[in-house]
Amino acid sequence: MIASTPDVVPAGRMSLSEQPVLRLAGNVELRPWRQDDAQVIVDACLDPDIQQWNRPGRDVSLEDAQERIARWHERWKSEQSAIWAVAQVGERPMGLIGWGDVDLKGGSAEILYWLLPTGRGGGVMVDATLRVSRWAMDDLGLHRLRLTHSVANPASCRVATKAGFALEGTMRSALLHTDGWHDEHLHARIRGDERPSS
Ligand SMILES: CC(C)(COP(=O)(O)OP(=O)(O)OC[C@H]1O[C@@H](n2cnc3c(N)ncnc32)[C@H](O)[C@@H]1OP(=O)(O)O)[C@@H](O)C(=O)NCCC(=O)NCCS
Repeated sequence: MIASTPDVVPAGRMSLSEQPVLRLAGNVELRPWRQDDAQVIVDACLDPDIQQWNRPGRDVSLEDAQERIARWHERWKSEQSAIWAVAQVGERPMGLIGWGDVDLKGGSAEILYWLLPTGRGGGVMVDATLRVSRWAMDDLGLHRLRLTHSVANPASCRVATKAGFALEGTMRSALLHTDGWHDEHLHARIRGDERPSS
């Protein structure tokens, strides 16, 4: 008989609980997206930097954005992704952070994030990355967290490094952007890595 490895995280750990609100310094919180945040998604899809690096799609209508938000809630329930809005408490979101490609059985996920221009430059994304990584490892129980970005995006590389995601290598011609194929850095944090102070 072939021995099978146990699931790293048992099914149900996300679907059987509500998506939490995670607090950050400076009165910032990571909270589930709401339908009335949809205009922020429309705005983000028009931002040239987000278009270039996150490739969220063009001509995204308010209705498309509302559907996207509904899909994120479904994907929490189906344990495929965990997506939060980054916002000052009680205010409209300034950004997005979350885990895509969640694999509870295998114990891994990949982070995604962006900030609208008004939210940039203050270190919020480093704090948010540290916080959702703590949630993913300590609360959810994942083992390996990935972060990938184009080698032409030094701000994202800096966020990765400051949040304790070690550079593991360069994936050649890994992602097609509007201006052609980009090499991508692969960064990761694994359980047991030294944690940066948060
Ligand atoms: C990437 C992003 C989330 C970073 O957030 P941010 O608030 O702009 O980040 P910060 O200003 O706190 O900068 C983080 C670090 O990167 C550095 N940095 C910023 N822009 C840089 C650049 N063009 N070149 C080199 N370093 C840069 C900052 O100096 C800072 O490092 P430090 O704290 O050691 O000084 C944000 O810029 C963004 O959303 N950009 C557009 C979309 C995007 O890139 N998404 C990521 C896809 S992988």
